Amino acid sequence: MQSVAIGIITISDRASSGQYADRGGPAVRQWLERALTTRWRALNRVVPDEIPEIRQAIEQLCDVESCALVITTGGTGPAPRDVTPEATEEACSRILPGFGELMRAVSLKAVPTAILSRQTAGVRGASLVINLPGNPAAIADCLGAVFAAVPYAIDLIGGPRLETDAGVVAAYRPAHAR
Ligand code: MTE
Repeated sequence: MQSVAIGIITISDRASSGQYADRGGPAVRQWLERALTTRWRALNRVVPDEIPEIRQAIEQLCDVESCALVITTGGTGPAPRDVTPEATEEACSRILPGFGELMRAVSLKAVPTAILSRQTAGVRGASLVINLPGNPAAIADCLGAVFAAVPYAIDLIGGPRLETDAGVVAAYRPAHAR
C-alpha cells in the first residue's frame, strides 16, 4: 500500500531566511513518528509569514501532493506579521473551530499566553489542515490534545484511514466506524 502523505509547514520569517534553524517542523515530524502506525511520509516546507506564500504551500500540499493532513507551526499570534490563521481560512472551504478551542484550553495549563494563539483548523478537499503555535514545546501539548479526533475527521472528509499507537494517542471512532 502507498504511504499516506502528511504536509508539515514551518511558518517563520527567520527560519525561511536561514537566520535560524527550523525547530518546529522536526518536532512535528518526531511527534507523528511516535503517534502513527500507518505508513506515512512527510513533505516539509518552510515559508515566511506572508498570506500568499502560506496559502500556496497549503494548496500545493493538499491539491498536488494529496496530503491527508497538513500541519502548520508558527504565525498564529497577535503580532502584525502573524497571518497563518488568515491564510488557513483562505485555503480552506470549511473551518473546524473545535480544534483551536481545545488546543488553547489545553495549552492554558502550560502557559497563560496560550490565549494569544489564534490557531484554527479547516478542510480543503479531502485534506485536514491544523495550525499549531511556533514554540516547539506547544507541539506535543496541542497534537496530544486533538489527535484522538484526527483519524475520524480524515475518514469523514474522504481521506485515507490512519491508525495510531494507543500508547501515544488512542484514535477515537464511533462504534459504526471502527
Ligand atoms: N501554546 C502552548 N502549548 N505552549 C506555548 O508555549 N505559546 C503561546 C501561544 N500558545 C504557547 C502556546 C504564545 S506566547 C503565543 S504568542 C501564541 O501561542 C502564538 O504563537 P505563534 O505566533 O508562534 O504561533
